[in-house]
Amino acid sequence: MELNPQGQSWIENYKLLIGSIVPRPIAFVSTESREGIRNLAAFSFFNGVCPKPFIISFAPMFKTANGGPKDTLKNIEETDEFVVNIVSESIVEQMNRTAPEYDFEVDEFDVAKLTPIASVVVKPPRVAESKIQMECKKVNILKFGSGAGAGALVLGEVVRMHVEDSVYREGKIILEELAPVARMAGDTYARATDLFELKRPTL
Ligand SMILES: Cc1cc2nc3c(=O)[nH]c(=O)nc-3n(C[C@H](O)[C@H](O)[C@H](O)COP(=O)(O)O)c2cc1C
Repeated sequence: MELNPQGQSWIENYKLLIGSIVPRPIAFVSTESREGIRNLAAFSFFNGVCPKPFIISFAPMFKTANGGPKDTLKNIEETDEFVVNIVSESIVEQMNRTAPEYDFEVDEFDVAKLTPIASVVVKPPRVAESKIQMECKKVNILKFGSGAGAGALVLGEVVRMHVEDSVYREGKIILEELAPVARMAGDTYARATDLFELKRPTL
């Protein structure tokens, strides 16, 4: 099978994207509008970039309905700040409740019944129930295309990290305690439990 993405619809390419790049970690992103309305949304096009400077990235697509920016992107463009909250199995149901595209005025902390707690450096609150929270300042936003199927890449510098004591030992994150969930295609999620070791060869 050989496929030419340029000859396919964006939906066909989207299915290839979400089925091929798996499992994907989930950034549960809290932001605040200029007027102080809180927002919370999940993004599985999420990854680290480098530790010095400490940069992470996630990619909100534009809204399918009207091609406009999702609330998260709008807020970051306006305020330059956001928090990435890591999703453990314990909050996956609450995370899922934030997935519909609610009106801009809706506070998804209320919808999900999650607790906002004040951040230390940035204005948007953190999710208290999340075991790892990263306060971020926007570094850059790259945009690709326009309308439905198009998207943006948000790059942020982590300016403060909050790690629950139970998941932190000697500078490392304890995977079993974090119990992170990952997104596959559609409604399927994965746990990080079927693990195996592979020693890296030396030169
Ligand atoms: C687990 C999960 C992962 C998601 N990943 C993405 C993503 O990577 N990019 C995206 O644009 N939307 C993604 N979504 C959909 C957004 O969360 C959804 O459009 C949300 O309503 C956007 O909210 P906002 O308008 O408040 O920013 C994901 C949803 C879920 C539940």
